[in-house]
Amino acid sequence: MSLRTSAFFGIFTLLVGMMGCTHESMNPDPDFINPVNPVVQDPPCDPNLVYFEQDVLPLLQSSCGYAGCHDVATAEDGVILVSYESVMGSKGGDLVSAGNPQNSELYEVLVEDNPNKLMPPPDEGGPLSQDQIDLIYGWIEQGALNNSCADCDSTLASYSGAIELTLAASCTSCHSGANPDGQVDLTSHAGVVNAVTNRNLLGCIRHDAYAEAMPPSGNPLTDCQIQQFQHWIDAGMPND
Ligand code: HEC
Repeated sequence: MSLRTSAFFGIFTLLVGMMGCTHESMNPDPDFINPVNPVVQDPPCDPNLVYFEQDVLPLLQSSCGYAGCHDVATAEDGVILVSYESVMGSKGGDLVSAGNPQNSELYEVLVEDNPNKLMPPPDEGGPLSQDQIDLIYGWIEQGALNNSCADCDSTLASYSGAIELTLAASCTSCHSGANPDGQVDLTSHAGVVNAVTNRNLLGCIRHDAYAEAMPPSGNPLTDCQIQQFQHWIDAGMPND
């Protein structure tokens, strides 16, 4: 929904601009409405490359780009983190200096010493894990590309492979720690089994009618990822 909303906002901003209206646009940078074409790579994916679509975007959406923080509606501090265009266009395009993570605010705030400037704020689950910080660093260092490579195989669905990786990318930013959202901890095998058995995890990721849609904002998991969960559950949720 937020992607559609951001596209709508982009078009709306463009129309308002063409009408010569003097309203301040939230995202004056033209990249916001002229997205750089995505670079889509066919599998096999390069294990040394960070892919925006699969690695960075789910992390930003689940850790930053949700309601009340950096979604389109709130745009805290002028920063929207729900799509490639919004990441590159926020703050007049100053959030990310492609190739130069040390000069990119998006990276700097992740390793900030001052707890008042650290992102995500300590009471919102910050700081990110070192692996997650490294991911953002690597993506910027490699040129902050709008790149994508999907090599998801729906039949390969071990816990330590597919399941844990998907949860880490899209869910554990909210579902970890002493007081996880919904009291659902998704950082251990036992926690995930419990969420499937007692909290309808599968319905949540499939966006079934009477389930809480998870993740609550941003892109849903892909069909292939959902099939991996289905296979893993059908196999008895092994800790493999
Ligand atoms: C941005 C934070 C956030 C992210 C990311 C997120 N969740 Fe949640 N989740 C919540 C909140 C908040 C609740 C509690 C919702 C409620 O009870 O109204 C919740 C509840 C749940 C529940 C319990 C639902 C129920 O009805 O009991 C499950 C299961 C769940 N999430 C799974 C996931 C999975 C799987 C992912 C990743 C694909 C995910 N969540 C990503 C915030 C998040």
